[in-house]
Amino acid sequence: MLYIGVDLGTSAVKLLLMEGNGTIRKIVSKEYPIYFPHPGWSEQNPEDWFEQTMEGLKELLADCDRSQVAGISFGGQMHGLVILDKDDRVIRPALLWNDGRTYEECDYLNQVIGKDKLSEYTANISFTGFTAPKILWVKNKEPENFAKIEKIMLPKDYIAYRLSGVHCTDVSDASGMLIFDVKNRTWSKEMMEICGIREEQLAKIYESYEAVGNVLPEIAAELDIPQSVKVVAGAGDNAAAAVGTGTVGDGMCNISLGTSGTIFISSEKFGVDKNNALHAFAHADGHYHLMGCMLSAASCNKWWMDEIIGTSDYAGEQAKITKLGENHVYFLPYLMGERSPHNNPNARGTFIGMTMDTTRQDMTQAVLEGVAFALRDSFEVAKSLGIRIERTKICGGGAKSPLWKKIIANVMNIKVDVIESEEGPALGGAMLAAVACGEYASVEDAAAKLVKVIDTVDPDPELAAKYEERYQQFKEIYPACKPLFEIIK
Ligand code: XUL
Repeated sequence: MLYIGVDLGTSAVKLLLMEGNGTIRKIVSKEYPIYFPHPGWSEQNPEDWFEQTMEGLKELLADCDRSQVAGISFGGQMHGLVILDKDDRVIRPALLWNDGRTYEECDYLNQVIGKDKLSEYTANISFTGFTAPKILWVKNKEPENFAKIEKIMLPKDYIAYRLSGVHCTDVSDASGMLIFDVKNRTWSKEMMEICGIREEQLAKIYESYEAVGNVLPEIAAELDIPQSVKVVAGAGDNAAAAVGTGTVGDGMCNISLGTSGTIFISSEKFGVDKNNALHAFAHADGHYHLMGCMLSAASCNKWWMDEIIGTSDYAGEQAKITKLGENHVYFLPYLMGERSPHNNPNARGTFIGMTMDTTRQDMTQAVLEGVAFALRDSFEVAKSLGIRIERTKICGGGAKSPLWKKIIANVMNIKVDVIESEEGPALGGAMLAAVACGEYASVEDAAAKLVKVIDTVDPDPELAAKYEERYQQFKEIYPACKPLFEIIK
């Protein structure tokens, strides 16, 4: 049978067609615009997501035996707020995960309601990108839109809704809403009350590997697939990527270098970091995970390459980098503010340390290193909880760069396992569909059978020691700049 994984990303939707034995038949990607109507805001049109997903599905299925398609599932950009009115029309563009406009609502949640209460109700505190502060923002700033809300959903759930007619979500994505009681895998009554919403406006919750229904007859007809095709709940993109890289069960780690950068640690038991610097979320394998999320990762490099130095030859630029561990230039990668661990929407991208002999390569290197150092900040929080990580998987667009993988292995001083397919969320989505259709007994079974490590990047003790020194210097830069970020906003 054939399974489709849909990764509803921030710059594009990526669709992957997988055979039951894990063979990837085809991958298709379709882009859509992102809008930044004010500095620090970011929005997309859910209709663009749906149109491009349908276009992508048609292309994906163009030359296969469509009668063999059995299931479709998702990995989706998390936290985004999609609101529909009573006629199922999208009320306003979606506010995305990296949108920083909700700082007042966040302060209200964290200071007035209080972090302790939020953590008790949801296992998390408020970050500007999370969904609850966005709901409050609409309530406070656009009351006419708030009054129209009939359904609240997350980005990938809008696609599932259009495909199946079922208002659904899954435990991993729901975890990032700050309305979900992560420990007990159910909506939090207290948070619904705080946000001024009713349970009927929220989706029905599923485990990521559960089918929510079948494709609607008109979708089956348009795509020429059987009406029996199952629509499966899927997961937030990081949990889906973790499935796609085999980061399931206990104590496994995955780093994702996409638009955002995350460090994801799977856990069989529920646990919360006492400062809530890491997110404590439900995992797509039926268990839990901790995650640090930086808002700009591969997107920093893309910004630097495309917008600033104006080249598309990423590999060519990186090939000229020779001074690993010896760069005097540092870069704070906070181009959209920062989530983990600083929780500061006013943080900004910063270069520091240049001299007259600084080269373009030093700056490029600083961007790659800055992202690795910032990921290490979250890694340090995990270590402070007594979590021992000796190796990690890696995925996302940035993982295609051998140099970046080497920098990460040495900055973190851990082994980086390279897997056969770096298509994290899309592959994870297809695997979740396969589990729901009975092809595998569980998510862990699918991961054990389908994910193959093909190479390992080992840290080099000499280089790791140099990076240790550099990281100690990097760590000093954000606290020194923090007061300035309040002034220059
Ligand atoms: C995770 C997060 C990002 C988005 C990116 O908390 O906000 O990784 O899911 O798509």
